[in-house]
Amino acid sequence: MERVRVGIGGCGFVAHIHVNALSRVAGIEVEIAGIASRTKERVESFAKQCGINNCYTDYRYLLDSKDIDVIDVCVPNILHEKVCIETAMAGKHIICEKPLTGYFGKDLAETVENVGKTIPKRQMYVRAMESAQKIVQEAKSNEVKLCYAENYVYAPELTKAKRLIGASKGTILDIRAEESHSGSHAAYAKKWKLAGGGSLLRLGSHPLGAAIHLKHFEGLMTEGKPIKVKSVTAEIGNLTKTPSFLKESKKWLVSDWEDVEDWSAVFLTFEDGTKATVFANDVTLGGVVNTVTVQLSNSVVKCNLSGGGACQAYAPAPEIFSEEYLTEKLETRAGWSFPAPDEDWMRGYPQEMQDFMESVCSDRDPISDGELGKEVVRVAYAGYIAAEEGRKVEISELRNL
Ligand SMILES: NC(=O)c1ccc[n+]([C@@H]2O[C@H](COP(=O)([O-])OP(=O)(O)OC[C@H]3O[C@@H](n4cnc5c(N)ncnc54)[C@H](O)[C@@H]3O)[C@@H](O)[C@H]2O)c1
Repeated sequence: MERVRVGIGGCGFVAHIHVNALSRVAGIEVEIAGIASRTKERVESFAKQCGINNCYTDYRYLLDSKDIDVIDVCVPNILHEKVCIETAMAGKHIICEKPLTGYFGKDLAETVENVGKTIPKRQMYVRAMESAQKIVQEAKSNEVKLCYAENYVYAPELTKAKRLIGASKGTILDIRAEESHSGSHAAYAKKWKLAGGGSLLRLGSHPLGAAIHLKHFEGLMTEGKPIKVKSVTAEIGNLTKTPSFLKESKKWLVSDWEDVEDWSAVFLTFEDGTKATVFANDVTLGGVVNTVTVQLSNSVVKCNLSGGGACQAYAPAPEIFSEEYLTEKLETRAGWSFPAPDEDWMRGYPQEMQDFMESVCSDRDPISDGELGKEVVRVAYAGYIAAEEGRKVEISELRNL
């Protein structure tokens, strides 16, 4: 049996999901050989809880270790570029969380706080693309795998959709995809200088990744080359800053966003003239919405990555189901709920890690790779330009990296 030793950077929300997903990899022995995160007590407690023997407060110990083959980058977005590049230079394979990278105002004085409201989005696009290109290039020149952790690509619903699309031989005319919920509680998500954007980049990366991947898949199948995004229009908004919302005393939504949007809609036109609409917002109550609908010339495929209601539960009072997990970001445990029997599986996390581990052990690239991560950055920032300038943006008019 092959063996892969993984070091994890970060011990927050997504690191937990990755540890669970890595523990479910079949046919390859996966060892979590170390974990590093900023706060000593937190990383020690995480390591103890997950049975990880080596923990550090500096990720560079992971890079120096001869006993680690892959670094799993689960740190805030602003650190992705630095950690990915140093990992590649250390000759280790990379798993990088979404978004691959972005623009964080690193070229500005530290005192500039409102990065999201200061810099023209065209300027952001250029810097973000340079950053994405650097990561992809560094991985290539050091001959390491760059696994882009876009779980939508691996969700069983999307895998099935690809099989149905392949069988139908139809044309994908229209994709409608969404990731929305009631708002991230992570502190970094509130500030552009840490997150690189608001709901469009942070949540929209997932449905954008799915839409781009599906049209690539169709193009490779029919013409032997991917069908890429040609132009983008978009709207963004700050709905939790509207006067009537501000007046309400009880806030059910996260509302302390600093300089990032909490609502977005992006319209993509592909090279073949077909369309995708992507919604991503932080103003949606009732649990996470993760959906992808594909309208083909001869069929329709609807995917609900939140579990699809296979299990429905009702409780007249919130305490009835005690501590049993229901589903992510549900505001109340009373009334009807739709608990996914295995939420991680429905969202593709174990399957994603299976592919990454297999890719590291073989000479093939992962299904979700750095090129997809780069395209998502391109389209998201083209969306920001379109929203700022109030017009359609042709990808060909932007500096091509
Ligand atoms: N695929 C998904 O479904 C999904 C879900 C949530 C988050 N994410 C992505 O995962 C990444 C992390 O998000 P999160 O929600 O887990 O955030 P989090 O705030 O819960 O965790 C971030 C972790 O990084 C650590 N950290 C910060 N600076 C560090 C440094 N210099 N060195 C080492 N560790 C450091 C923090 O201490 C913390 O443990 C983000 O890029 C986010 O976009 C992906």
